[in-house]
Amino acid sequence: MRPKAAQYTLNQMTAENRSRKLVCLTGFMGSGKSTTARVLAGQLGWLNTDLDRCITEATHLSIPEIFSRLGEAEFRRLEHEQLARVVAESVAKQKPRIVSLGGGTIVQPQNLALLRDAGALLIWLHCPIEDLLHRCAHITDRPLFRDEASFRRLYAERLPTYEMSDYRVESRGEPARVVEQILSLGIFPGVTA
Ligand code: S3P
Repeated sequence: MRPKAAQYTLNQMTAENRSRKLVCLTGFMGSGKSTTARVLAGQLGWLNTDLDRCITEATHLSIPEIFSRLGEAEFRRLEHEQLARVVAESVAKQKPRIVSLGGGTIVQPQNLALLRDAGALLIWLHCPIEDLLHRCAHITDRPLFRDEASFRRLYAERLPTYEMSDYRVESRGEPARVVEQILSLGIFPGVTA
């Protein structure tokens, strides 16, 4: 039987051990989550976890391989399982951590609930759709980038979910500028941009 990762995690959490030092970057594909998280975590000296990488390491498959061989539903199950694992580890270790989520992670209500319950802060890297299209058109590892029309549709569908984030930062510019904006939000004690 598969482990019920999310249930396990939620049961482990109480108001006392919720981590306020779990900061997650969300946003549509191409918005720069992984790069920004790496630079941000480096500057803060925090742990950095890339959720897509956790999935590929756990399965020994690339993201496109998971989609083509196992299907999107299985990808979402794996994504949830890895998120639950990362959240549980963060709560247990209490070490501050930046997590770059996948573009569809918080669209799954159980993932958003898991993050909220853990007291995670969500930062939305917002980028105009034209820029995202331009960036993703050259990338081949995004199985959900099929064509422009479906890309625009998915973006519009997901906007209301991204808008539920705690903070919004413009991610159009260089990663260093995006990190500066995040540092100036005042959510990292003792750190200024
Ligand atoms: C997805 C985005 C991808 C990856 C998977 C699904 C999505 O991550 O998780 O292809 O649903 O938007 P990035 O946002 O890092 O491209």
